[in-house]
Amino acid sequence: MPTASHKRILITGGAGFIGSAITRRLLQSMDCQILNLDKLTYAANISTLNQFRDNPLYQFIQADICDDKACRQAIEAFEPEAIIHAAAETHVDRSIAGAADFVQTNILGTFNLLEATREYWRRLKPLHRTSFRFLHVSTDEVYGSLGPTGAFTESTRFDPRSPYSASKASSDHLVMAWHHTHGLPVLLTHCSNNYGPFQFPEKLVPRMILCAVAEQPLPLYGDGSNVRDWLHVDDHAEAVLLVLRDGLIGQTYNIGDCNERTNLQVVRFICQALDQLRPRPAGDHTELITFVQDRPGHDLRYAIDASKIREELGWQASTDFESGLRETVEWYLKNPSWAVDTGRC
Ligand SMILES: NC(=O)c1ccc[n+]([C@@H]2O[C@H](COP(=O)([O-])OP(=O)(O)OC[C@H]3O[C@@H](n4cnc5c(N)ncnc54)[C@H](O)[C@@H]3O)[C@@H](O)[C@H]2O)c1
Repeated sequence: MPTASHKRILITGGAGFIGSAITRRLLQSMDCQILNLDKLTYAANISTLNQFRDNPLYQFIQADICDDKACRQAIEAFEPEAIIHAAAETHVDRSIAGAADFVQTNILGTFNLLEATREYWRRLKPLHRTSFRFLHVSTDEVYGSLGPTGAFTESTRFDPRSPYSASKASSDHLVMAWHHTHGLPVLLTHCSNNYGPFQFPEKLVPRMILCAVAEQPLPLYGDGSNVRDWLHVDDHAEAVLLVLRDGLIGQTYNIGDCNERTNLQVVRFICQALDQLRPRPAGDHTELITFVQDRPGHDLRYAIDASKIREELGWQASTDFESGLRETVEWYLKNPSWAVDTGRC
């Protein structure tokens, strides 16, 4: 577990899946002041961080990263020593149905936040200017799609295929440009697919669990053979905090743990866990699997080469994929009201 490098951290998107995991990690194990700046879109659930509502180290502000004045005011008032930028529109299917929010938040919102940060950072005293960091939480999807072999390294050329990944790649370029042009001390992380508690139920893992519990079909794109590389969200959170503390300015770090599985394998595993934890009188949960028309431009395979963060920063994941996924299934079974709060299922 990395110790906190910065004592006042502004996090964007802290009411989302990954932002809340990072916030939880910081508040549970490190003595930091946190300001969570989140618009509270459909994907957010503020109850995720209920346990910290009365914690004097935690503040929340509902604001849009596209709102120039709100961002500047929040940054000036809070005086962060670091900013972790995790706010984004994140669901590929939604980006296919309509990309406007993705362009707005992921590209223009990131631009706006960078400008507000730059303005604040350039007025800091030299010591604080040197230690300040802006960390952008990004995705492996910017690298595009792999064939049956190989893995993304930090030098893999960006080749985004969906409006979502194109908007994230654009924001990565902006972050790097603010470093090269303006000297802003940035860090970038590209992580593989996350799973774990508190994920909005439109994403594969929670969706399949909640549909199965509701005796609804489990819709799988194509023949379910698309491969994703899975990482528990708490391992991601820990990696982000390690990069914040020890990462080299201007560098990118891939995060992943070699857990490649086809979507069908993941869904079958969830079904088997449910067969044990909540048996279905009508038969095995796999009977609910239904193959549906493939997603347009569906990337075939993602795989992360995370040697850099392992070798240079000493990071390693601590959650075994199968036990982590089983615990995630148990968490959704024990917390049905959280999913209801999201307005889904
Ligand atoms: N989920 C994954 O598997 C995964 C993997 C790698 C990287 N990432 C990246 O991690 C980051 C967080 O992803 P997530 O899965 O937690 O997303 P999420 O959809 O669960 O949460 C996104 C959060 O951002 C907030 N937000 C959206 N637009 C905003 C705006 N304009 N202003 C302020 N707040 C806004 C939402 O309210 C929400 O709380 C994203 O940048 C994503 O690209 C995600």
